[in-house]
Amino acid sequence: DKIKLYEAPKAKTLDEIKKINKANEIIIKLYSEVLPKYVKAGISTYELDQITEDFIRSNGAIPGTKGYEIGKPYPAYPASLCTSVNNRVVHGIPTKTEILKNGDIISLDTVTVLDGFYGDAAITLPVGEIDENAKKLLEVTEKAREIGIAQAVVGNRIGDISAAIQEYAESFGFSLVRDFAGHGVGKSMHEDPMVPNYGKAGTGVKIEDGMVIAIEPMVNEGAYQVRILPDMWTVITKDGKRSAHSEYSVAIVNGKPIKLGTGEL
Ligand code: MF3
Ligand code: CO
Repeated sequence: DKIKLYEAPKAKTLDEIKKINKANEIIIKLYSEVLPKYVKAGISTYELDQITEDFIRSNGAIPGTKGYEIGKPYPAYPASLCTSVNNRVVHGIPTKTEILKNGDIISLDTVTVLDGFYGDAAITLPVGEIDENAKKLLEVTEKAREIGIAQAVVGNRIGDISAAIQEYAESFGFSLVRDFAGHGVGKSMHEDPMVPNYGKAGTGVKIEDGMVIAIEPMVNEGAYQVRILPDMWTVITKDGKRSAHSEYSVAIVNGKPIKLGTGEL
C-alpha cells in the first residue's frame, strides 16, 4: 500500500514466521473453503464482511482492517473485509446495498492479527459466468503473482519481483496499478520494504532470509490510473474498466520464497 510503512526488523526468526503463517492460514482457509460458497449473485458485500469477521474471530484472531487508521484526514476503515467489485481496485467498503450480480468479478482482501502478528492475503473470484476478458484478467493476475513470488529469492532485489510482474501482465495488454504496492508484513500490517508491481530489475532493497513480504499485483484491464471515492477508501479505475487483485504473504526461508498459510512452511 502507499499507506505509511513501519520499519521492519532486519530479519524475522523462524518462530515469528510460523506465527505469521498461522495468521495467514485463517485467510487461506476462508478463501478456499468458506467465501467461494457465498460469492453468488444476490449476496451483499456486507454479508461477505459479516461471514469474514465471524470466521476470523471463531479462529481466535482479530480482523486487522476494522478500525484501521492511516491518520487524518482519513476515516478508519470500517470493515473486516475489503470488497472491490469490477472497476473497484482495492479497499472497497462492503455495504448492504451492494448486491453481487452474475458476471461480476470481486476482489476480496482481508487481514488477521493472531498472537501479535499479521496475516494478509487477497483473491479475486468470479460471480457465476464471467466473460472471456475477465477470465483472462483473473488468470493473468494470479500468474503475475506467482511470477513475482518466484523472483523473491536471496540474490535478487525487490525490483526483480516488480519487473517480472509488470512484464508478464503488460504482455497481455493489461496494466499495473502504481499508486498502491505490496509491503513487508509482521508485527504491523505494513512494513518496509515497499513492493511495487512495476519497476526495474536489479534495483531496490536486497532480498534476504527472514524477510516477509506481501506480494500483491493489482492488474487493470485498461489503463493503470486510479482514483479514490469520497468515502476516502475505495480505489476505482479512472477509465471504469475492471481490475483484479491477488496476494500472498511470502517468507524468505533458506533463500527461497514460502507462501504463508498454504501449508508450504
Ligand atoms: N490488505 C490490505 C492492504 O494491504 C488491507 C488494507 S485495508 C486497511 O492494503 F484498512 F487495512 F487499510
Ligand atoms: Co497487503
